[in-house]
Amino acid sequence: MRRPLVAGNWKMHGTCASIKLLLNELATQVLPAEVDVAVFPGLVYLQAVGAQVAQSDIVVGAQDCAVQLEEGALTGETSALQLADIGCSMVLVGHSERRQLQDETDSVICRKFIAAQAAGLTPVLCVGETLAEREAGQALAVVQRQIDAVLVELGVDVFAKAVIAYEPVWAIGSGLTATPEQAQDIHAQIRAHIASHSAGVAQGLRILYGGSVKAANAAELFAQADIDGGLVGGASLNAKEFGAICRAA
Ligand code: G3H
Repeated sequence: MRRPLVAGNWKMHGTCASIKLLLNELATQVLPAEVDVAVFPGLVYLQAVGAQVAQSDIVVGAQDCAVQLEEGALTGETSALQLADIGCSMVLVGHSERRQLQDETDSVICRKFIAAQAAGLTPVLCVGETLAEREAGQALAVVQRQIDAVLVELGVDVFAKAVIAYEPVWAIGSGLTATPEQAQDIHAQIRAHIASHSAGVAQGLRILYGGSVKAANAAELFAQADIDGGLVGGASLNAKEFGAICRAA
């Protein structure tokens, strides 16, 4: 059985004060022992968050890392090794906001995936189609292309130590959640695609759903056979809501 994972991506939200308060409130929530819980704060808050959750089971991840692992003259970049050095254990790679706003390509994302694993971090590879791509019947092809950018380049075994997050772009921050059936359909096809390379890796791979997950829809989504938890944006900024989502996993 795969252990569910609920991850809160805080994106570019929060201040020292609001994040401290959010974590204090989260500490009052009952988080199920059988669910892994992770939070992904902005870069400048990673260490403070790590210190505040140190006595809990919550793990901390970063929202991005540099393509290059070795230190060097790369102003503004943060390497996966540096993230590991301050206690991160996971990192998002290829979030659609970075694909769209920072022009990150599949090959850049693959290099970040490599850097993450080389540093001992678990990469969470984010994939998903736009509304236009879905309406053109290309959802699966797009997701498969984004996965193949890593799979074909590195081989299937790298997914034994990675997580995939399926996030339809049209569902992110829009209030438009994919129906459980729509999400399950893509999740099942992602798992089948991985299984065509290795049944064992596919069986153990956690595939998260992201896109307007909230307490009200989480249980139905997480009940699907191939949905192993969620990557939660907006709703993770509310401790009660996030706690309820974790309990639904
Ligand atoms: O990384 C999280 C996703 O972008 C989902 O964001 O829950 O605000 O739609 P959302």
